[in-house]
Amino acid sequence: MRTITLINGDGIGPEISESVVKIIKASGLDINWDIQTAGADVIAQEGTPLPQRVLDSIKKNKVALKAPVTTPIGKGFRSVNVQLRKSLDLYANLRPCKNLPNVETRFKSVDLVVVRENTEDLYAGVEEQIDENTAHSIKIITRAASERICKFAFEYAVKNNRKEVCAVSKANIMKLSDGLFLEAFRHVAKNYPDIKTREILVDNLCMQLVQDPTRFDVLVLPNLYGDIVSDLTAGLIGGLGVAQGANIGLDCAVFEPVHGSAPDIKGQNKANPTALLLSAIEMLKYIGENNYAKKIENALYKTLSQGCKTADLGGDLSTSEFTDKIIENLY
Ligand code: NAI
Repeated sequence: MRTITLINGDGIGPEISESVVKIIKASGLDINWDIQTAGADVIAQEGTPLPQRVLDSIKKNKVALKAPVTTPIGKGFRSVNVQLRKSLDLYANLRPCKNLPNVETRFKSVDLVVVRENTEDLYAGVEEQIDENTAHSIKIITRAASERICKFAFEYAVKNNRKEVCAVSKANIMKLSDGLFLEAFRHVAKNYPDIKTREILVDNLCMQLVQDPTRFDVLVLPNLYGDIVSDLTAGLIGGLGVAQGANIGLDCAVFEPVHGSAPDIKGQNKANPTALLLSAIEMLKYIGENNYAKKIENALYKTLSQGCKTADLGGDLSTSEFTDKIIENLY
């Protein structure tokens, strides 16, 4: 039986984790969940929101499903998410964005994938205070990191039957840094003659995404543009309750929804488990359990098609009622 690390998180984390674990079990797939606590609740006992045992568990099991964790503001602790990505070198942030049945959005047929570089760019944290009135933040782009994220995007395209990979930059202005990213993209693209390529400036991309997102397939972006554009694309498909994500490295992968711990609805049985469930479906595909992934995806789609939705999507079902409907639709 496969062992997978489960970080239940806090806020709505435990409620949506319980829902997803229940659905996977009902699908017939046996997983041994190695449950690891992290976040604000463990600080008092362990002195850190991300104890070493969590990292050790993910390193051992190679795959984790993670519900959101709260990062306390102003207590000197770095975000658990940033620490996880750095410690495990999870260099690719993957966010598939696809319309779901019966979820009202401005556009139909959105089906694109954002591949964001996760380790460098302005997020490398290299900043200096020049004087009282001036601060510098240094944008770091390397050939090695750019090539590996572009390779990841092309490999993803091949494996998932995608037709085009589009590189996003602002290379007209940042000729050296974004220029290097584009150079890496062109170099890697040569190995994938069957995949179409496109290059676009990030400002033009944003305009086109809100005009007609169906023009895009796989997007590959440096860290900062990827962060911003992936929230834009989450908005295109119905927002936080349905936006899935994954952080993938050479050795390990952590699958998690885009949303946070939603303290405003914690413990009220109101949270939408869909984003975590979609992240889990992507995780099942990643570990090769494609049949179970498809079975659960079909049940989710059927449930939404029947008009069964949680409050954030305009429905009236609680987390547990929505979960039970999906389980009914597995058969
Ligand atoms: P949030 O995503 O938790 O909530 C924003 C709004 O969306 C709230 O009104 C919330 O009720 C709603 N919402 C979010 N997920 C939902 C769901 N599944 N179903 C229904 N409604 C949902 O963002 P916020 O409030 O800025 O952050 C809260 C905490 O979460 C912070 O401590 C932040 O550090 C943490 N956070 C953790 C993340 C992670 O663990 N990956 C990511 C983002 C934030």
